[in-house]
Amino acid sequence: MNILAIESSCDETAASVVRDGRQVLSNVIASQIDIHTLYGGVVPEIASRKHIEQVDPVVMQALADAGMTWDDIDAIAVTYGPGLVGALLVGLSYAKSLAFGLGKPLIGVHHIEGHICANYIEDPTLEPPFMCLVVSGGHSHLVNVKDYCEYEILGRTRDDAAGEAFDKVARAIGLGYPGGPKIDKVSNDGDPVAIDFPRPKFSDNEYDFSFSGLKSAVLNYLNQCEMKGIPIVQADVAASFQQAVVDVLVGHSMQAVDMYKVDKLVMAGGVASNSHLRAAMEKACADRGVRFYKPSPILCTDNAAMIGAAAYYEYKKNGCSGWDLNAVPGLKLGERV
Ligand code: KG4
Ligand code: ZN
Repeated sequence: MNILAIESSCDETAASVVRDGRQVLSNVIASQIDIHTLYGGVVPEIASRKHIEQVDPVVMQALADAGMTWDDIDAIAVTYGPGLVGALLVGLSYAKSLAFGLGKPLIGVHHIEGHICANYIEDPTLEPPFMCLVVSGGHSHLVNVKDYCEYEILGRTRDDAAGEAFDKVARAIGLGYPGGPKIDKVSNDGDPVAIDFPRPKFSDNEYDFSFSGLKSAVLNYLNQCEMKGIPIVQADVAASFQQAVVDVLVGHSMQAVDMYKVDKLVMAGGVASNSHLRAAMEKACADRGVRFYKPSPILCTDNAAMIGAAAYYEYKKNGCSGWDLNAVPGLKLGERV
């Protein structure tokens, strides 16, 4: 089954052709990073307008790169939530028109399910059940993936997402947007134990995350240094902040792996491309004899191949979506509308 998938939930306009949920035949991404960098973060209205400009050429390129015509495509998939409502609506309206015009099924996909399913592309032998840490710009979830399309959320962030914390701290220490990759790089020259930042834990749900306190601790540290005239070592602040995030993400994941006695730990989302997190998780898994899976960086950040992979399993289990499918900015994982 050849699925043409479209992703436009945030600042990437992407289209891809994926065969049987595992084989990527094309993967086109038009990034808007340059324009949003001017404003220090994603501006929703600009994102929507850029998606309108990009969606048609990106889809046509994905079809051409796959060496296909519309006759070869069996279904159209699209992200319908969560994300920025205007951005989602562009991809969704385009996908609906395309599917309706071509007389092909429409498959609505949950963006986070897409991130998780990127792992099915990366390793075609991976099958559920497994434990999955989803860490992106808008989400941090610890998910027990019981089967295809069957998710039990064990923990989630109570405030900021992990990627959001990376972006805010990067801005505070003068690294700019997007913060994650910059902190990752600068940390190579810093001391991860230079500053002891907090690693929050909740007694009522040990799998939940919180990153806004950590971000505030970094801001307080910077203010205090300024007041006392102590020079700030950017690389040390970055490395110490990152170490606190990595410790919490690895700690929570290993606790879940131990408690649920699973033998596979999977990572997904933009932050999963962090080199320090990948190394630390790899080691923690190896120490326990747990197999560790992570998508290559291009499949961690937003792309449409992951949407094509998720769509295949969604279609097999639940069939196609109705023509009344709407954008749902706050769509929960496992929720179907
Ligand atoms: O999954 P994603 O592309 O978009 C969302 O669905 O949110 O994730 C983007 C997030 C951004 O916050 C970005 O700073 C972060 O992923 N990110 C990283 C790295 N690369 C991207 N965070 C830490 N280290 C990285 N290498
Ligand atoms: Zn994403």
